[in-house]
Amino acid sequence: MLLLTLESSCDETAAAVVRDGRQVLSNLIASQVDLHAVYGGVVPELASRRHLEVINPLVEEALSTAGVTQEDLDGIVVTRGPGLVGALLVGLSFAKAYAYALNIPLIGVHHIEGHILAIQLEEKVEYPFLAVAVSGGHTHLYRVDEIGRYHLLGRTVDDAAGEAFDKVAKMMGLGYPGGPIIDKLASVGDDGGIVFPRPMLKKNNFDFSFSGVKTAVLNYLQRLESAPDEILTSQIACAFQTAVIDVISQKAMRAAEAEDLNRIVVAGGVACNSGLRKKFAKLAVATGTKVFFPSPILCADNAAMLAVAGDYYLSQGLSSDLDLNAVSNWPLEQVHS
Ligand code: KG4
Ligand code: ZN
Repeated sequence: MLLLTLESSCDETAAAVVRDGRQVLSNLIASQVDLHAVYGGVVPELASRRHLEVINPLVEEALSTAGVTQEDLDGIVVTRGPGLVGALLVGLSFAKAYAYALNIPLIGVHHIEGHILAIQLEEKVEYPFLAVAVSGGHTHLYRVDEIGRYHLLGRTVDDAAGEAFDKVAKMMGLGYPGGPIIDKLASVGDDGGIVFPRPMLKKNNFDFSFSGVKTAVLNYLQRLESAPDEILTSQIACAFQTAVIDVISQKAMRAAEAEDLNRIVVAGGVACNSGLRKKFAKLAVATGTKVFFPSPILCADNAAMLAVAGDYYLSQGLSSDLDLNAVSNWPLEQVHS
């Protein structure tokens, strides 16, 4: 089955062509980072307008890179939510028009379902596994029993990890998006003895909280008599990143143990973080747990990741009607309720 997949939930327009839910023939991403960077965050209206501008040529390029034509397609997969509703609607409307014109089925997929299953494009991970979804909007732990069956074990009660990275970078005047910038700074030095709190780590549940770490960084910055120099900046970045990584990795390992799962999949934009990847690799060796990270291109927002679920559902005979609407708020555990 040859699928065109489309993602437009936030600030990347993405189109991919994937065969049989496995073989990625093209995976193109038109990033809007430069457009939003001047505002220090995503401006929804601008995001929708840019999606509209680029989606047509991007799809054409995705098809030609894959060496296929519209007529070769067997179905269209699109992110239905969660995300910015105006942004989602661009991808969704495009997908519906395409499916209607080509008379092929359409399926709307959950963005986080895409992230969690992206790893299956690169290696076969047996079910069940623990999924650690860490992105700009999510820091959630799920037990994944099979495609479509997700059980929420814990989640952030305030900011998502990526959101905390972005906000801390913004308050330090480092730019947007903050995750990759802090990651780079953190990797050049050490924390210089700075320690930020590890919220909820001692709590006997699998929930997270990152707003306290963010406030601790703000308080630290406010106590300084002058702007931090290069060395102190990287130490603060490193101390912040280490606190976030500690909480995510330790809670994930505990959840895996409690659920008797010896496979962990880490997914979403924050899974690009080099410190997080190293920490999980160490814990994997220490505990005998297998930890899987998709390649960075499949961690950040992309369209190929939607093909795993899309292919599965379409091959089960499931598809969406052409009156399918976008859902900005959509808990993953409710995908099929
Ligand atoms: O999955 P994603 O691309 O979009 C959402 O679904 O939200 O995740 C974006 C988030 C941003 O907050 C970004 O700062 C963060 O992922 N991110 C990182 C890194 N690369 C991207 N966070 C930490 N370290 C990174 N290397
Ligand atoms: Zn995402």
